[in-house]
Amino acid sequence: AGLADAWDCQTVEDRRRKAGLVEVRGIVGNPLDDHQPYTWPAEDDWVLPMGHNPWMRQVAIPLRQLSGIKVAGLPGYGKTMLMLAWMASLANRANVQFAIFDGKTSDPRYGDWGEVGQRAMFIVGDNPETAHQRLTELVRLIKDRPSQLVAERGTHKFWKAGPTVTIPLVLVLMDECHNYADTKGLTGKDKQVIESNQRMMQTISKEGRGLGVIGIFGTQKQTGDAIPTAVRDNLEVGVCFPTFTIDAAEAALGSGIRKDEPNDPSKLVDKESNVGVCVVTGVPGLGGQYDRVRVGDLDEDQLPGFIASTWQLCRDVIPAAAPTVVDASTVQADESAGTSVPLQKSTRRRKSA
Ligand SMILES: Nc1ncnc2c1ncn2[C@@H]1O[C@H](COP(=O)(O)OP(=O)(O)OP(=O)(O)O)[C@@H](O)[C@H]1O
Ligand SMILES: [Mg+2]
Repeated sequence: AGLADAWDCQTVEDRRRKAGLVEVRGIVGNPLDDHQPYTWPAEDDWVLPMGHNPWMRQVAIPLRQLSGIKVAGLPGYGKTMLMLAWMASLANRANVQFAIFDGKTSDPRYGDWGEVGQRAMFIVGDNPETAHQRLTELVRLIKDRPSQLVAERGTHKFWKAGPTVTIPLVLVLMDECHNYADTKGLTGKDKQVIESNQRMMQTISKEGRGLGVIGIFGTQKQTGDAIPTAVRDNLEVGVCFPTFTIDAAEAALGSGIRKDEPNDPSKLVDKESNVGVCVVTGVPGLGGQYDRVRVGDLDEDQLPGFIASTWQLCRDVIPAAAPTVVDASTVQADESAGTSVPLQKSTRRRKSA
């Protein structure tokens, strides 16, 4: 308090950088109360912008080699808005495709993601079994990618040449993901489906990184198991909007947040001022530590319309399921030629999802 008075600033934070070096920072006023417009990424910049931190620095998440992102927090503070902004950031690029899971809405045409569903390869609602089918497709895409990459580019390393129209970056947006992954109270077949979903979400988080398939998992569930541990341990970036408990924050931010009081999301619950404010970890420059960010202001009425306007760029790149094996002797060689793993299925417009 003495230092804050002496410097005439509202907050003073210290952080031990390494033995013998303590960083002390004084923050005048509260820059997080300052609203700024959301910054859209430059055309060839592979980042997901967020907003500004208490030092008025812009914070963005680099996509190159990103394993994935967790987004947690209480209802109404801006999880979905941020995920929509990320979709909008890349929607006008033909070399990006989207998969949408809206775990909050039974008929996804009428939920937060309804309008933007047109730009996605598919959109599914809260049904875990439908999600299971779509997750199966995404896992097939991941398993198919290395051979497709080698065939087209001579390397299985996606980020070497980066996203192209034929091998695009695939963003898997899973809002309220606990719906597909929470086994609580389930038994028998229902439980099996959910456990299988968990395994496939894990595959996306673990294997998608080098192959250009990136999962973004959002949840408002207020317990540590909201994002299965096996999934969250693979996802390097955590974003946490205000939460009631530190346990909920841990789902996105890891246990280190317990020792970082200034960045504790349960201290940000004041809804008057903190809608759009979150705590982040895993972004460059933080060195495994935490920071707060005010997400740039978005126009919630225009955002979905903008994304929808890019629907022509949507292209289904899920490989077809391997054909059922038939006795080779009954199939003419020329008939079977070219039927194994075609590049894409015939384009399905998913309105009927
Ligand atoms: N960056 C932002 N710019 C402008 N408005 C915002 C922003 N973030 C949040 N809001 C406002 O807060 C409201 C709630 O945000 P959002 O729907 O994203 O919350 P949520 O965390 O997804 O909630 P839920 O858990 O209920 O789905 C928005 O409808 C919007 O009015
Ligand atoms: Mg939401």
